[in-house]
Amino acid sequence: MDLDRLADTAEALVAEGRGILAADESTSTIKKRFDSINVESTEETRRAYRELLFTTDGAEEFISGVILYDETIRQATADGKPFPKVLADKGIIPGIKVDSGAKDFAGFPGEKVTEGLDGLRERLAEYRELGAGFAKWRAVITIGDSIPTGACVDANAHALARYASLCQEADIVPIVEPEVLMDGSHSIETCWEVTAATLEAVYHALHDQRVFLEGTLLKPNMVLPGKDCPTQAGAEEIAEATVGCFLTVVPAAVPGIVFLSGGQTAEEATERLNAMNAMGQFPWELSFSYGRALQAPVLEAWRGDAANAAAAQKAFHHRSKLNGAARFGTYSREMEAALVQ
Ligand code: 13P
Repeated sequence: MDLDRLADTAEALVAEGRGILAADESTSTIKKRFDSINVESTEETRRAYRELLFTTDGAEEFISGVILYDETIRQATADGKPFPKVLADKGIIPGIKVDSGAKDFAGFPGEKVTEGLDGLRERLAEYRELGAGFAKWRAVITIGDSIPTGACVDANAHALARYASLCQEADIVPIVEPEVLMDGSHSIETCWEVTAATLEAVYHALHDQRVFLEGTLLKPNMVLPGKDCPTQAGAEEIAEATVGCFLTVVPAAVPGIVFLSGGQTAEEATERLNAMNAMGQFPWELSFSYGRALQAPVLEAWRGDAANAAAAQKAFHHRSKLNGAARFGTYSREMEAALVQ
């Protein structure tokens, strides 16, 4: 285990003005995204779409890393250049999703536990060979009637820590992702409490399992009211709740917090990250690791038609640039209109 290399990679992923593109949708998730624009999901359409993203000129100014899926890390451009090499040549670090999904947690209706530890050491060694410098494991915590239970939070925290230590053994930076879902009518206060309790359990487990925090990144939800909560919140309130919650539980040794978008619109995700960074300096970098919030406008512009590839790349560059500005707290709504097709 090379501690310097782990810390350097983690720092590079949260370098000034840059953040992560999550393009690691599983085959079933990307099918849902393609269904929404009436595009058939085949190995070739998935490849063509990812090629469009990864070859966008200038995106590397704002994108430090891209999370890939098992199929994607093995794919290449139409002219045969492997995707990990395309990214690495642009100074973007390739990453890999290594969990095998959130499954029903036996004995606990409505709750999930993430699987994928079996054989992980061997898979990590292969991904390292394929060029991965970092990895992702997503745990899912649901807020509802009498849930989450402590048992569910602890089982997920334990798995995240086992995953993180195996990654570090392979010199791969683990992104630790405990996502408290936005689904439900809970208040922002409930989201704060559940997020804090989850993060406490996660950092306890990481400490127990001797994970080197300087060589990790945290990928959490923002602290928000549930999607169906009658009282919604503005960007400032969300920024203050999120940072307030994290200051109590996330150790300063963690170099960066890279938010997921989790169902927020592209504009909301940018505006809220911007509001946090506009508040000042924190012990960790506050950045993004967005899937939907970076890709929704790209899918909309592309719609499966090669003739739209240039417009789709413009949309990706624009969205990346706006999130890059949010890293400095200098984004404004007026910048949304600056995209000229
Ligand atoms: P979203 O930003 O769409 O939530 O995706 C991020 C991610 O990687 C979820 O695991």
